[in-house]
Amino acid sequence: METQLWRERLAPYRLAVDELVVKFNHVKQQYQDARMYSPIELVSGRLKRVSSILDKMRRKGVELSQMEEKIEDIAGIRLICQFVDDIDTVVEIIRQREDLVIKTEKDYITKSKPSGYRSYHIIAYYVVQTINGPKRLEVEIQIRTMAMNFWSTIEHSLQYKYREHMPDDLRERLLRAADAVDVLDNEMSSVRDEIMDAQNSNRQKATIISDILNNIENLYYVANEREVTKIQNEFFQIYRQDDITLLKRFNKQLDIIAETYRAQNPQNMQEGL
Ligand code: GTP
Ligand code: MG
Repeated sequence: METQLWRERLAPYRLAVDELVVKFNHVKQQYQDARMYSPIELVSGRLKRVSSILDKMRRKGVELSQMEEKIEDIAGIRLICQFVDDIDTVVEIIRQREDLVIKTEKDYITKSKPSGYRSYHIIAYYVVQTINGPKRLEVEIQIRTMAMNFWSTIEHSLQYKYREHMPDDLRERLLRAADAVDVLDNEMSSVRDEIMDAQNSNRQKATIISDILNNIENLYYVANEREVTKIQNEFFQIYRQDDITLLKRFNKQLDIIAETYRAQNPQNMQEGL
């Protein structure tokens, strides 16, 4: 097939990858906007390279005309989670979506592949709109933890290097590394609550600081400069102490000051104060 024809044939898959990356990033964003923990940590997508498509077709004895139905991973999406438990949540999110219709699911989490590979795979139908009308195609979604992703990235490059001839001792070491990944994921799950608390308090702190800065900025419009400078210095002092309770208290005081000004001079106050 000529380059131009490949480009045309793969274009809908490229569109599917682009769209789904945007959509899953929005899922993450929605959780963050709602100040909730996101089960999706990282989204990536790739279009399979033509050489890899050809390799796979040769390996599986697939004709060029059957490419679309037989090669399921031309469009690939990867969703990386922090914790093993998040994987179920993400799978459920995908099952509920109306733009993705699941064809098959493969659970290599509960039972890893003989190589040690762990991941949850979904093959789903997805419709893109082209200048020739709607086109339904297949996409592969891989869902795994960061630790599993680390392992499979390394193992994949080694597979690529050795092709079918990976030395036995290396294979053995990879299996041991896969066990270590499993232990790591389980350990992380057990400290999950504490990690989430830490992340929550970081987020909470960021929100308070942005509130405070907002308040100070608004006071610029109504208070005299000396007073605002004084407040600003006070803020830096409290900020340096890195104590969320102090920050909260300071923010409350600012609210009161702002309220006083609002009462005195309502039309000068900015919105959101
Ligand atoms: P292919 O393995 O792609 O020929 O298709 P399949 O029908 O066997 O599907 P499977 O679910 O086994 O694999 C799909 C994809 O998962 C692969 O293309 C890889 O990206 C990934 N994968 C599967 N097994 C392994 C593995 O042992 N190591 C790594 N690193 N990735 C794997
Ligand atoms: Mg395979």
